[in-house]
Amino acid sequence: MENNTRGFTSNIGAILAAAGGAVGLGNIWRFPYMLGQNGGGAFLLVYVFFVILIGVPLMMTEFIIGRRAQSNVVGAYKKLSHGNKGWITLGVFAIVGAFLIYAFYSVVAGWTLNYIVMASGGKLAGQTPEAITALFKNFTQGSFWPLLYQGLFLALTGAVIVMGVQKGIEKVSKILMPVLFILLLLMCVRSLTLGAGAKEGLSFLLKPDFSKLNGSCILSALGQSFFSLSIGMGAMVTYGSYIRKEDKLFNTSLWIAGCDSLVAILAGIVIFPAVFAFGMNPASGPELVYIVLPNVFNSMPAGTLFAVIFFVLLGIAALTSTISLLEILVAFEVEELHWKRSTASLVSTLVVFIIGAFCTLSFGPLKESTIFGKTIFELFDLITASYLMPIGALFMTIFLGWCFPKVEVKDELSNGGTLKVKAFEAYYFVLRFLAPAALLIIIISGIVG
Ligand code: PHE
Repeated sequence: MENNTRGFTSNIGAILAAAGGAVGLGNIWRFPYMLGQNGGGAFLLVYVFFVILIGVPLMMTEFIIGRRAQSNVVGAYKKLSHGNKGWITLGVFAIVGAFLIYAFYSVVAGWTLNYIVMASGGKLAGQTPEAITALFKNFTQGSFWPLLYQGLFLALTGAVIVMGVQKGIEKVSKILMPVLFILLLLMCVRSLTLGAGAKEGLSFLLKPDFSKLNGSCILSALGQSFFSLSIGMGAMVTYGSYIRKEDKLFNTSLWIAGCDSLVAILAGIVIFPAVFAFGMNPASGPELVYIVLPNVFNSMPAGTLFAVIFFVLLGIAALTSTISLLEILVAFEVEELHWKRSTASLVSTLVVFIIGAFCTLSFGPLKESTIFGKTIFELFDLITASYLMPIGALFMTIFLGWCFPKVEVKDELSNGGTLKVKAFEAYYFVLRFLAPAALLIIIISGIVG
């Protein structure tokens, strides 16, 4: 009974909410520039391979932990480990990670709001490439406007979370995710009908050239698959605790990972044909979306309209992800600290705003304040995506694979024995051996550099 009032009301609600958490800036902003810098099609193939082989099993693992415990990430490790302090620390580790990701993620999320405003006000139209670069630099290097947009984005996310799991997260995801898909398809059609260069862009994305593949590409693909699927920070543990007992965790994970990869590929189909058609550089890095694309929009008919559509799309993708980030924190504060949902949302949002302000200002006033040669923003991105997420995921696999009864894992995955889980042994093998090994390699190679 508790399950019905606690979580999502339907399987499709769960899939859309969790897919919303997974689909984000990681797919539309990070994936294309990683692919652009790592040789194109071959990167895509390796990425999809890792999503299927390791990403899906790890997502299932988070769902198993969350749904078994019916609890937030700290409570989940506490319950399932019967109060073992070490494992509770792993839950706290996830909370800290979620705070840090939310802090830097909300910077780029705030930028999307500014770009929606600029694009719809016609500010990007008719500008020279130099002027577009200057617009980006002037905006991001300032203080007031980027902080304001970051604050607005955080407030928007907080408003959804205050409304609760069913009326907030589930309802908003059910509306926004279909909108996101429609806008994305619209953009694909636009990009693919741009003529000669479009074909070249498409083959850059889809035709693997394995000579371009090296160790660092493979590692980037592996890291990108974790970031994109939101693995290792308790997001999927929290959402897993809201999935109904009768839903199939394997199928649910497949749908979410499928949506996530599809959006990444579609984002590539939007971006690369357009970039090639207008002779821009596909390997231009994090600025690809904010500097290269506005130039592309300027060179196409009805560019202003498509610029608005694109940045709205990016904003929606970011919002459903920030919702999942804030829910990790709020679920913990409500269940473990017994705060009211509204208090928890407000306090977490304020704390993230304070930490996040340092990330925003690290593009401007705090640019020179670097640690190990990195700005605060770069440091948060690096620490979370390259260390905290894989470390969190590694210990999670050790917990469920080595310190938790196999029969219980099987029981949760098979909904109390009512489902036949044919591939259980394969999953269990990945959980115990393959995933921890892959995670160890990522962590060590990150440290060695
Ligand atoms: N998966 C999200 C994205 O691709 C990022 C994210 C990571 C969200 C970790 C929540 C937790 O944008």
